[in-house]
This record gives sequence, C-alpha cells and structure tokens, in this order.
Amino acid sequence: MSDSKSVLLSDGATGKSVELPLVPGTIGPSCIDISKLPGATGHFTFDSGFTATASCKSAITYIDGDAGILMYRGYPIEQLAKHSNFLEVSYLLMNGELPNAQQFAKFEHEVTHHTMMHEAFRNFLYGFRHDAHPMAMLTGMVGSLAAFYHHGLDLEDPETRRLAAIRLLAKVPTIAAACYRYSIGWPLRYPRNNLEYVDRFLHMMFEVPSEPLELKPIVAKALDLLFILHADHEQNASTSTVRLVGSTGANPYACVSAGVAALWGPAHGGANEAVLKMLAEIGRPEDVGKAVDRAKDKSSGFRLMGFGHRVYKNFDPRATIIREMTHKVLGDLGVNNPMLEVALRLEEAALKDDYFVSRKLYPNVDFYSGIIYKALGIPTEMFTVMFAIARTAGWVSHWLEQQNEADAKIGRPRQVYVGATPRDYAAIGSR
Ligand code: CMC
Repeated sequence: MSDSKSVLLSDGATGKSVELPLVPGTIGPSCIDISKLPGATGHFTFDSGFTATASCKSAITYIDGDAGILMYRGYPIEQLAKHSNFLEVSYLLMNGELPNAQQFAKFEHEVTHHTMMHEAFRNFLYGFRHDAHPMAMLTGMVGSLAAFYHHGLDLEDPETRRLAAIRLLAKVPTIAAACYRYSIGWPLRYPRNNLEYVDRFLHMMFEVPSEPLELKPIVAKALDLLFILHADHEQNASTSTVRLVGSTGANPYACVSAGVAALWGPAHGGANEAVLKMLAEIGRPEDVGKAVDRAKDKSSGFRLMGFGHRVYKNFDPRATIIREMTHKVLGDLGVNNPMLEVALRLEEAALKDDYFVSRKLYPNVDFYSGIIYKALGIPTEMFTVMFAIARTAGWVSHWLEQQNEADAKIGRPRQVYVGATPRDYAAIGSR
C-alpha cells in the first residue's frame, strides 16, 4: 500500500514492513527516502552504478533523459546555447539567476583578474615529462592549487568559498593552455585581460611571441558553444566525485582535481578523445560498415565511441545543437579531412542500423565535440582538457551548493560483501 507521500515496503522474509517517505522534486519523479530501511528491516539497497539512486538534492541542472530535456537553473539548454555565453552560464550555474549587466561586468572583471598563476607553477609544470598526457598534468596542476591557496581557507566563510570557485573558473584555462604549450615545447603565454574568456584561452593556446594570432570568429563562437553545452550535467561521474570528496570537507582545489581525474575515463569525458582515435583506426569511409559490425559483436569488446548515454535514451539535446555547429564549422573553415568523412558516414550508418536504433544508441555530445575540436586545430590529447575547462563551472557550482547544505553528511556507500567467510590465520610455512 502507498499514498502519494510515502511507499510501504514489506519484507517477505521477516514479515516486517516499513513506510518510506517520498522526497518530491519541483519536476521529475519523486524519490523514495530509504534511510530508515536498514534500521527497520536489516537490509541495505543494492544499486551498482547508481542507476536508480539519487545521491543529493540539487537545484542546478535538470535532465529528462527520455524526453531529451536539459535545463540549467530552469533555462532550456537550447535557449542558453542560442542567446547566452559561457561566462554568463557559469554565473547562472553558480548563483542560480542570470546576472544583470552590472553583476555580469563585476563577475567578468573578477574572473579576468584571477587568471594569472603563481610563477612557482612553472617549476611544478616543468617537472612533468615532456610527453605526459595533458589530463595527467591538469589533474596534478589543479590539485597543486590546494598547496598554493590553503592559508586562511575557512570553508565556513561563504566569501572564501566563492573566491575558491572564481579562482578555479579563472585559472583552469590558464593551466590547460600551459600544459599544452609545455607538451609541444612552446613558451608559456600569460593571460591577456583585454580579451574575453574564450578568446583569452585561444590566445594562451595558439599565440606565438613572434606574430599576432588571427582567428576566424567561428572558432571562438564554436568553442563558447561547446563550453556552454559541457558546463554541467547534474550528478555525472566527475561531479559526483567532486561532491563525494567535498563531503569530507576537503580543500576545494583537491575536490576539483578529483573531478578532473574522474572525467578522464573513456566512459565519461575521455570519450571525445576515444572518438577521434576510433575514427583514425577505422581510417577509410568504406571501412565504416566493418566497424559497425564489430561494435555489434559483443565478443569483440569494441563499442562505437561517442554513441549511447546513461541518461539520454532517446536523443542527447546537446548533440542536436552541436551537430548543426559541426557542419557550420567544417563549412566555414573549409576543412577537408578524410577522418571527418568517416565520422559522417558512421553517424549515418549507425542511425539506420537496427542494433543501435533498438537500443536507443544515438551519437552523444562527445561524438561531435571531438570533430569540432579537430577542425579547430586542437590536438586530440587536449579534447578532454577542453571538457574539463567547461565542466569546472558545474563542479564549482555543485561544490558551492553542497557546502551550503544544512544536513550535509559524508558520502559513504555500503556494499554487498562477497568475500571469504571467517577463517583462521595460518603461519606462512603451513600455507
Ligand atoms: N556501441 C555498441 N554497443 C553499445 C554501445 C556502444 N557505444 N553503448 C551501449 N551499447 C550496448 C550494450 O552492449 C548493451 O547491449 P545489450 O543490451 O545487448 O547488452 C546496451 O547497448 C546497453 O548498454 P549499457 O552499457 O547497459 O548502457 P549504459 O547506460 O550503462 O552505458 C555508456 C552508457 C555511455 C557508458 C555506453 O553507451 C558507452 O560505453 N558508450 C561509448 C562511450 C561514450 O561515448 N561515452 C560518452 C558518454 S557522453 C559524455 C558524458 O556525459 O560523459
């Protein structure tokens, strides 16, 4: 039996039952609060991969995977993609409301004036091997911010927390560009305050001391759009990691560094790099059919990278927006790369194939983001770093939200123990 505010759960083995309250949201399904369950029945719940478990209450991002809806603070992603910019979206995610002109100018000024790094960072960066993966460098460099900014870090103070979030938003692009330049042996470039956020980053990446950098406007526009689309995605693996680390009261820079590490995996943010590697492996448009067949064969262990999503089982609204931009970028920049032809053939073939259609495996945002990054001249190893720059806005917003929770608890899941039953220690000679 259940009413609209609770569900009644009966344990067939013990005959015990427990009434569990429902936790409503403003939209979307309500969740069953199971915190009383172990006390009442002696059971925990098992949900590997958290496919049916809400880990927190959050007012930042809403996703309806079946309907293909994504909203930041109630604003549909399509509207933000069309009318806003990444820095305004970052303000929205962090503060809950869109800024007025004065608020935005203040925020932009603040972010701009926190982009510089302590000079000692150079020494730290130069300690990496020249061929280190930029995500490994980024994880280490962001984590090292915890060593630079630990004095007076009173996490009880909202202003200290806000400043930590601003510093992360401002410095992650500077660190990202420095990692790239170090890996190719270029001198580091200081951030230029006369440029806007995305343009400043592009200059830090690509400008050489010997000549000015000239970029077509589509480059900054496409990158800004990608940053908006990647800025947040509710409780994904890296954001959940930031929250889990944050729940221990850890330093915010350490929390975000943990998020960067989680993002790196190919099942998460590493997918955009994996897409390009896969396209290179496929090699020729005429070999696309063979790749599709291999992805359908479970014994091959091969999946089409950039296809499928844990939450979007119909279509990824970000992919719809970015698909249009992909074609515009390729047209405007006059890119003619056979790998991009492979990508477009693959998209076409998978969308027609019953295996992918019946499992609702559509191209996700990372399928297209990799293609755009490639066209913009961003090296493949930097793709996930680009994602990390954008997702920093989401990570810091979730961290700020979590630090404000009145009933915050340390994140500590339980387990189903499947190991050995009790046994006696045997001396080494008798084993
Ligand atoms: N290629 C071939 N088959 C696939 C693929 C794929 N990319 N993705 C899922 N399947 C199959 C899978 O084998 C399973 O088949 P069956 O029902 O016959 O056993 C079915 O589709 C369901 O797959 P699942 O692994 O249970 O789905 P999931 O929700 O656990 O996984 C995913 C989601 C994104 C990890 C997975 O689709 C995948 O590995 N995709 C490729 C990697 C990728 O593009 N990741 C980026 C995700 S978007 C960026 C982000 O938000 O971080």
